[in-house]
Amino acid sequence: MANNETARVIHVFDTTLRDGEQSPGCSMNLPEKLEVARRLERLQVDVIEAGFPASSPGDLESVKAIAGLIKDCTVAGLCRALEKDIDAARQALERAVAPRIHIFLATSPIHMEYKLKMSPEQVLERAVMAVQYAKKFCDQVEFSAEDAFRSDRDLVCQVFSAVIAAGATVVNAPDTVGYAMPDEFAAFISYIKGHTPNIDKARLSVHCHNDLGLAVANSLAAIHAGADQVECTVNGIGERAGNASLEEIVMGLMVRKDHLQVETRIDTTQLYMISRLVSQVTGVKVQPHKAIVGDNAFAHEAGVHQHGVLANRATYEIMTPESVGIPKNRMVLGKHSGRHAFEERLRDLGLSLNEAQVEPIFAQFKVLADKKKVVSDRDIEALVMEVSASVPETWKLDRWVINCGSTLSSTSTIRLQGKDGTVQEQAAVGNGPIDAACKAINRIIGKEPTLEAYELGAITGGEDAQGETLVKIRWNDRHWNGRGVSTDVVESSIKAYLAAINALEWDPPRGLMPL
Ligand code: KIV
Ligand code: ZN
Repeated sequence: MANNETARVIHVFDTTLRDGEQSPGCSMNLPEKLEVARRLERLQVDVIEAGFPASSPGDLESVKAIAGLIKDCTVAGLCRALEKDIDAARQALERAVAPRIHIFLATSPIHMEYKLKMSPEQVLERAVMAVQYAKKFCDQVEFSAEDAFRSDRDLVCQVFSAVIAAGATVVNAPDTVGYAMPDEFAAFISYIKGHTPNIDKARLSVHCHNDLGLAVANSLAAIHAGADQVECTVNGIGERAGNASLEEIVMGLMVRKDHLQVETRIDTTQLYMISRLVSQVTGVKVQPHKAIVGDNAFAHEAGVHQHGVLANRATYEIMTPESVGIPKNRMVLGKHSGRHAFEERLRDLGLSLNEAQVEPIFAQFKVLADKKKVVSDRDIEALVMEVSASVPETWKLDRWVINCGSTLSSTSTIRLQGKDGTVQEQAAVGNGPIDAACKAINRIIGKEPTLEAYELGAITGGEDAQGETLVKIRWNDRHWNGRGVSTDVVESSIKAYLAAINALEWDPPRGLMPL
């Protein structure tokens, strides 16, 4: 590409809050979704798919809340090709600055015969009807031919041509089951471009799943073959093996711009922070070797590599940690640091918070600085996460005492403060300190959720590192996540359990969130 030629701009359609959130174990509550949406806007994605409004009242409420919050990108709501689903999406997107109704209908033989029980002619007719109906309310209408890759190519082209004529502004060709190989998927996209007569009137999008670990490769191959929108999720979360990972696609496009000759609007320095946020609110850890955002993505262990990197970073690094926003973990703050220095550090970390949000975080920073000699960037980030995406506290930890040892049962006494200010205390015996603490808390709250997952880690290295606990609880067939951070691992565990209890007690899908 000659220097003065402008590169094709690929639109990034993020579906972390829909395809990502709908997968088991990745659910988020409303404040968490709002925080993720805010960060996606800061990341400068082009489209945020906020949910599937007809799927539940909770989803409708959260799409509504996100639509009212986001100003700088399109907000999409997913629907089946049904008027009632389109009505729900339209209602949820009412306040969006740039709304998009996203309709999906399967076109593959297996889906048409067994799931939809419809003929190809009926699918074509229904797709057109749905797009025409949506177009009455919304300028941006996207149509997805679910399982497009396993569909008859000419049927996909025929459906795309008809829905574009009916007003679709984006047509999406998903590899719903992650079956394609990169060269095949590229050929599929080229075929669609070559055989859909009015394709130049719409954007052609791709949406790849990762069942064979090829979602990113297939997405990049499709972009190379001419796709102009890519659908993906932060950390690649999503159904089964997940969706294509946003951070890997974006950095692939950036680092290999020489080859792919395209660009995105994404501010790549926000990638690391949003990855951490999504991991923390879903409770799904990022594996250490994950490209771009894994803990080891920029670690050079082998002596020969270290030597090379010291001489010239480009010997073993094709991008810098700074380019994806990995904080340098400078240990600059301590108990003598004032509010001004603290706020400056927040800004350096890209954490823009308002006055009211800074106040409690600064107070917690002071408490932490009294316990730790130095407070690192990771510690600050953890404090911010704790406050910015949390639900109101129905129960607050007041005091706790735990006795545990090798031969006797563990005992705990826990005192919680309710939201009306009253305190309640209970004691319990358990199989270990955490079990004893959870049992005492259950006695106070009068519920017995199951602790389904428990993970303990350290935020930084060092003897005075803070422990970080992630838990998942289940109650009446629903799940909630909780996260707790403290220099004491038992306390971080109690806080995490209580955070999950507070999420349960608040139960946002009933429209209780003040907007
Ligand atoms: O995987 C898929 O086909 C989807 C569609 C709804 C776009 O998620
Ligand atoms: Zn999908």
